[in-house]
Amino acid sequence: MAEIRLILGDCLDMWGGYMREKGEIRFSHPTQKPLKVFKIPIQDWTDKNDIIFDPYMGSGTCAVACQELGRNFIGIEIEPKYYEIAKRRIDQTMESLFV
Ligand SMILES: C[S@@+](CC[C@H](N)C(=O)[O-])C[C@H]1O[C@@H](n2cnc3c(N)ncnc32)[C@H](O)[C@@H]1O
Repeated sequence: MAEIRLILGDCLDMWGGYMREKGEIRFSHPTQKPLKVFKIPIQDWTDKNDIIFDPYMGSGTCAVACQELGRNFIGIEIEPKYYEIAKRRIDQTMESLFV
């Protein structure tokens, strides 16, 4: 029973689960996902230069995954504070990729 709860806990709280890379930064969004949660399906199901649409952008994890994998991205976020976090992450990733 404890093991089942542990596995379920991993699924519900993805940040605390095994998908998170060592050193990945936590931004102040309550349900931020580890980058790998987006990178794996994007890599498997889409091609370079495809356009990915995320209507619930949150801290922008999907956008960052798209940038790192050479996909185009369109996102929507209703909360200004999360939009600002996402925008900052996108700008920083852009800088790190093209410097
Ligand atoms: C589950 S979170 C996304 C978390 C994101 N995947 C991440 O890693 O940070 C869902 C987000 O959708 C936003 N949201 C909720 N309703 C929305 C709406 N109608 N339009 C745009 N964004 C919305 C919330 O503010 C929240 O930040």
